Amino acid sequence: MAFEIDTRIPWTEHFVRHGFAVLRNQVSKAFTDRAMERIRAGLTEPARSLPCESWTVANATWAEKPGPGDPVLDGIYDEPNIRRIIDTLYGTSAVGSPTGWSGEKSYQVFLTAFSPEQPQPKAYEGGHIDFGGHLIPKFGNAFVMQVCLRDTEPFGGNITVMAGSHQHVQKRVLADPYTQYPADFDWNDMPSTELFEFVAKAGDVLLMQHLSFHSGNACTATGRRPRVALHMQVPRSTFLTKVDPADATNPPWVRSFALNGPHEDPEDQTRYMGFGEAKKRLWGEWTSDDGQAWFKVFTWADGALRSRLRLGALPDQISRGARFDGRRLQFGCDAVVSGAGGPKATPVPCRVVLEVDSNDGDRMHGTIAPESNPAGARAIALRKTAIISTRLTGYDV
Ligand SMILES: [Fe+2]
Repeated sequence: MAFEIDTRIPWTEHFVRHGFAVLRNQVSKAFTDRAMERIRAGLTEPARSLPCESWTVANATWAEKPGPGDPVLDGIYDEPNIRRIIDTLYGTSAVGSPTGWSGEKSYQVFLTAFSPEQPQPKAYEGGHIDFGGHLIPKFGNAFVMQVCLRDTEPFGGNITVMAGSHQHVQKRVLADPYTQYPADFDWNDMPSTELFEFVAKAGDVLLMQHLSFHSGNACTATGRRPRVALHMQVPRSTFLTKVDPADATNPPWVRSFALNGPHEDPEDQTRYMGFGEAKKRLWGEWTSDDGQAWFKVFTWADGALRSRLRLGALPDQISRGARFDGRRLQFGCDAVVSGAGGPKATPVPCRVVLEVDSNDGDRMHGTIAPESNPAGARAIALRKTAIISTRLTGYDV
């Protein structure tokens, strides 16, 4: 179901209630024109010389993608209306103050060119929250701002936001701060399926709270206009730690976290950062002393930990349903259970639990057990045999 912007309430109140807001015509044409030139210059030929409507997912590739540090695009943070919006949401214009914008210019160019192969969808897709496979901050320290640089069309590669989903997600996270997306969410749980597509003109701005469900659609628009936008994170200097709905001085960004009642959690940031560090400790290739077990544990493109593994003579597998709880990584796989009848024994579904040794970061131990017999768990002792130091995004991990 398509959601209509409620024009009876101010944009600030729209952000609080619905988790997002739209402000039209906030950025000068001079800026959007210069930004488009800069983006075009970053493309490979022939796209660089073609009209935007001839760009496709196949030809619109980057020779050099502009980003933070680019003298033209960085200027978005100096546009007067953009600064006014940031100051209003955070309730202060003091850059670098604890409750104000930190001053960090954080953004990405979002270019979604026409997809000739793809049929136009009949309805919007549900979407996701960011922080996949990670903890979701209850309050966090940033909101999203997307500035459209060129007019778009319906189903034109635009972002779609699920109205009110921030309140539902926060309820889940307040009840259990270890709630993770997608493992702990059931799409049918969502109280709302009201989706708003940000069909925009150059200079229009979308604001989005970090707990909102959203997605980007493919560009299948009849006029083949690409979506070109600056997708900005606007970081506050500090994480919010407390919200009291009765406090009349709350600025709109703070009020957007007050819909579920008063709450205080000074650990929101520590827990979030600690979880990220704990994930990194699992990154690497891990091999048993006898060489019979090998696990390559990594964070994939979706943000979640998973493992490629080889057990005995079985072919390589990818972990099934991996979930990390901050300490232990658990997942399903197939393995031959010892004593199950010689070298040709059939693999059975098993459950693996792995944990890095708290005293020695190069050692990992755990168990593997048949799903039908958890009591028959076998111990696994592993040593780190190769280092992984970044997220892996390829399909050939
Ligand atoms: Fe996202």
